[in-house]
Amino acid sequence: MIRRREFMRNGALGATALLLARPARLASTLLSSAPDARIEILPEEVLGTISPNLYGHFLEHIGGVIYDGVWVGENSKIPNVGGVRKDLVDEMRKVKAPVIRYPGGCFADSYDWRDGVGPAEKRPRRTNFWNNEDETSAAPASHRYESNRFGTDEFMRLCRAIGCQAYLAANVRSLPAEAFYRWVEYCNSPAGTTALAAERAVSGSAQPYDVRYWGVGNESWGCGGNFTAQEYAVEFRRYTTWVPEYGQPLSFIASGPNSDDWQWTRGFFEEIARKDKEQFSSIFGWALHYYSWNLSRGRTADWDAGKGDAINFDVQDWYEILREGNRLESLIEGHWQAMREFDSEHKVKLVVDEWGPWYRPGSPLTPGNFLEQVPTLRDAVFSAMTLDIFNRHPEKVTLASPAQLINCLNSLYLAHEDKFCVTPVGQVFGMYSAHQGGQAVRTIISAPNVHYARDGKPASFSGLAGSASLHGKDLTLTVVNPHVSEARETEIIVRGTSVRSGATTTLSHSDLHARNTFEQRNEVTPQVKDLPLPRTGLILQIPPASVTRLDLSLV
Ligand code: AHR
Repeated sequence: MIRRREFMRNGALGATALLLARPARLASTLLSSAPDARIEILPEEVLGTISPNLYGHFLEHIGGVIYDGVWVGENSKIPNVGGVRKDLVDEMRKVKAPVIRYPGGCFADSYDWRDGVGPAEKRPRRTNFWNNEDETSAAPASHRYESNRFGTDEFMRLCRAIGCQAYLAANVRSLPAEAFYRWVEYCNSPAGTTALAAERAVSGSAQPYDVRYWGVGNESWGCGGNFTAQEYAVEFRRYTTWVPEYGQPLSFIASGPNSDDWQWTRGFFEEIARKDKEQFSSIFGWALHYYSWNLSRGRTADWDAGKGDAINFDVQDWYEILREGNRLESLIEGHWQAMREFDSEHKVKLVVDEWGPWYRPGSPLTPGNFLEQVPTLRDAVFSAMTLDIFNRHPEKVTLASPAQLINCLNSLYLAHEDKFCVTPVGQVFGMYSAHQGGQAVRTIISAPNVHYARDGKPASFSGLAGSASLHGKDLTLTVVNPHVSEARETEIIVRGTSVRSGATTTLSHSDLHARNTFEQRNEVTPQVKDLPLPRTGLILQIPPASVTRLDLSLV
């Protein structure tokens, strides 16, 4: 038997300038006579619209994600919206959550959606896909055995409470295509038209859910069926060939590659093109999964041995995980090129619906929560860097979601019983929500590289990184300074216009390991400052190990 985890990882002229206030903790840093970095924003050079869906989310029936994280039950003393944790709903509204992928992950290809609808007391109890993993042996029964108390209707209740779209991942490995069609029918057929619409009216909603996004399997190269790319393309064709739309156009998302598996991308696209290139028009997205996990500095490729610790790490580990995270940009560019070999008009866009750091097990905030890790400032910097990568490629990437929303890997929130906190990653999503729907504009960043010792040998890592977008006259610039100890004195240039007013929001901490917990919920929290209008050059002091958002109102 193949173990489940083995499936997963075997100076610009005419510029306007502004002097920005320095963050308080850097007030003692002396400004040099000349800035050591420069960010030049070119508002006239639009790269594309930043899809709000790049700021999407992912929920799976795994560990404490659904039960405890999302679902507390209608009769709970914990404040809830029809059984869904109210704190979560409130926070997700604040970050303008646009879309949530559900119910997995690997779980999706073991899940029968029918188990999760109808009267709660009649829903069958099943073995969860993740049961028997080594790490789940100490987990509560609710994580090992699926009660199906939370299903399609409860998920849609969550989406409606937030005001976001649903992205459902269908089972390709263990259910026939017919089950997929019926799930679409259950969700989208109009009130009073079908038997499933009637069931839905009793269970959840007379009005259709109008679900647009449908994943066709998950990691079909591994836990989702162990297919070859060609085999999967045939399955994809079969599952998506005739699916009634009920007035709601459907956007199919195919199970894409793991990391740099170029063969998977080429194999799928070649097979689709061999039969009929026209089918590219009906594929909305190609889902790349990329986890950053190997902190062994090249010593091993072993999925378990290569991982580092979520909380206890040194400066090398800080840079190494960021370096791993940075690889995502070349993966996006590489797969985009491979797709182009067959889909020359780029009808299919990239979806990155699982991303984030993955550390070794052992440091959950709630003991027994499988895969839960506590995000630190490092993960905030990592996540900001990743979101900036998406913003820089708006024509390529159309939807993305970190793994996973709550009580899991790179989570925005942690919760247990009546306790809840927003992690530094959640803070970053709050800061970056200003980019949603904006016009991404070209931004040229020049900064010295970071130099560090990698097992005694010199290594370097790129200095400042960021992205900029425009909503009319409102410019948002986000910047990450990955250096653990050096601030970057940075000249900010907005070409061809002038600035009316501005503000900065900065997330940082003197301790690289800083994190929010149930006891210290606001240890890592953004600091907002107004900017006095400058008379001379715009110099921004960007703190070490920080994420900064600059809001500029242009004339
Ligand atoms: O996010 C955890 C797991 O990682 C998902 O179930 C799977 O798709 C991936 O391998």
